[in-house]
Amino acid sequence: MSVAKKEYKRVTVKSLVDMKKNGERISMLTAYDYSMAKIIDDANVDVILVGDSASNVMAGHETTLPITLDQMIYHASSVIRAITRSLVVVDIPFGSYQSDPREALRSAIRIMKESGAHAIKVEGGLEIKDSVKRILNAGIPVMGHLGLTPQSIYKFGTYTVRAKENEEATKLKQDALLLQKLGCFAIVLEKIPAKLAKEVAESLTIPVIGIGAGSDVDGQVLVIHDLLGMTKEFNPRFLRRYMNLYEEMGNAISQYVDDVKTRDFPNEEEQY
Ligand code: KIV
Repeated sequence: MSVAKKEYKRVTVKSLVDMKKNGERISMLTAYDYSMAKIIDDANVDVILVGDSASNVMAGHETTLPITLDQMIYHASSVIRAITRSLVVVDIPFGSYQSDPREALRSAIRIMKESGAHAIKVEGGLEIKDSVKRILNAGIPVMGHLGLTPQSIYKFGTYTVRAKENEEATKLKQDALLLQKLGCFAIVLEKIPAKLAKEVAESLTIPVIGIGAGSDVDGQVLVIHDLLGMTKEFNPRFLRRYMNLYEEMGNAISQYVDDVKTRDFPNEEEQY
């Protein structure tokens, strides 16, 4: 179905709710640095997520757990300096909001104040209710994240599809409703059955953005390194690669090495 697109000079949390109402799908991608964020913003992506996946793709950690609040603020500040249109949402990292609502609020305030971001994202439902409430009460927009929540990877034990069983599916639906009721402006659903994601998206008035959650949700998100084919080993079924940048960059870099070794670079025109 093709839907007439309204032009948004700046995407806000309200624009996203309007997009859902108007049946316009929301595009969301991750970014962690100025140069990539500028390309993504110029390409009219609605939401840029400064994801804690920076821990994996930028820092090379196995999980998202090690990244710190200071590191997230550094990435978010770099992204913010590139933006003219996209809404910038920043992940609150593991360990900076789960233990105590007051600490959660302090972490969220640091992200907003020190990076200039527009909203924050948290993983979980009922367990973090008080933290979400406190952050929202301070006027900070919150995006939820349910399903496969990578900060809980050691509880799950694997990165397989979540909420296939009734009990977990029921809890996920309750958590989604709770996050909406608390005042979250959107929810990410990661790696859950498409049928369940559709049911959740239809039951909520706030947008549901999927990653590995099928097509019947209000928007899609991918990690930019995966979309561009910069990550070779990560091959989940939900991933569509739009380029093979790992190979293309490798070829360009090998060519540069050859040109240096053979003294082809720099040539007459490339010097002063
Ligand atoms: O950190 C991240 O990149 C994310 C997305 C996968 C949704 O949370």
